[in-house]
Amino acid sequence: MARRKKIYEGKAKILYEGPEPGTLVQYFKDDATAFNAEKRDVVEGKGVLNNRLSEFFMNGLNTIGVPTHFMKRLNMREQLVRAVEIIPLEVVVRNVAAGSISKRLGIEEGTPLPRPIVEFYYKDDALGDPLVTEEHIIAFGWASQQDLDDMVALALRVNDFISGIMLGVGIKLVDFKIEIGRIWDGDFMRLVVADEISPDSCRLWDIHTGQKLDKDVFRRDLGNLADAYTEVARRLGVLPQNGAPRGKPTLIN
Ligand SMILES: Nc1ncnc2c1ncn2[C@@H]1O[C@H](COP(=O)(O)OP(=O)(O)OP(=O)(O)O)[C@@H](O)[C@H]1O
Ligand SMILES: [Mg+2]
Repeated sequence: MARRKKIYEGKAKILYEGPEPGTLVQYFKDDATAFNAEKRDVVEGKGVLNNRLSEFFMNGLNTIGVPTHFMKRLNMREQLVRAVEIIPLEVVVRNVAAGSISKRLGIEEGTPLPRPIVEFYYKDDALGDPLVTEEHIIAFGWASQQDLDDMVALALRVNDFISGIMLGVGIKLVDFKIEIGRIWDGDFMRLVVADEISPDSCRLWDIHTGQKLDKDVFRRDLGNLADAYTEVARRLGVLPQNGAPRGKPTLIN
């Protein structure tokens, strides 16, 4: 049997050549890493959960007209996506202070921010993904001013959508990171949300108890990561009450 071509293996996912030109298969691994991969472990079931959760969020975004790379889920661990030219920036949106902004600016974790704050980090593991300004991004040609304006608008729409969905199941979207890519139709270029949206790339706190339901559980040794992600999936109806992933919603008649 012909082995499909591996395009890239990252810390959390593997990209394979897709069945059609311009497509890729994204495989979600169980590997968990934090602090630029200084802390690592295998969390059984994480890949399956992130595949489902990213499908859920990307599908919802596509439905409300926020373009994403997501085409369809193929199986428990894989999804078919449009191949994009990744802009080498991590786009972070923050609603509540936590993590690096708290450390950098001395703002206590949990402090609500006066408005959503959009930040850009240059994707470079060797440099530890440093915070960069729009000046750096334009000067070094990573994106144009128009791209930046479009990226901010896209990121804020994602923020409103995911915040609303999460609020509905008693979870606060504290912050998240997305990656954005370019798709070319001839000379015409558009920006789409790429990579993944999952508890690996968000901070999610229970609204009532403050319990962390995201990768901080792993970063800070707060308990079982798969249990936290299962809880998010269960609340969103991505998993039935008994925990086993389900396929398409079944019609009861
Ligand atoms: N639609 C897409 N087309 C092309 N590349 C993509 C697409 N979606 C995601 N990627 C890239 O695929 C890789 C996913 O792998 P993973 O998340 O494991 O990487 P990583 O270890 O976080 O490393 P890094 O993001 O620094 O490359 C990332 O490099 C991401 O930028
Ligand atoms: Mg990644």
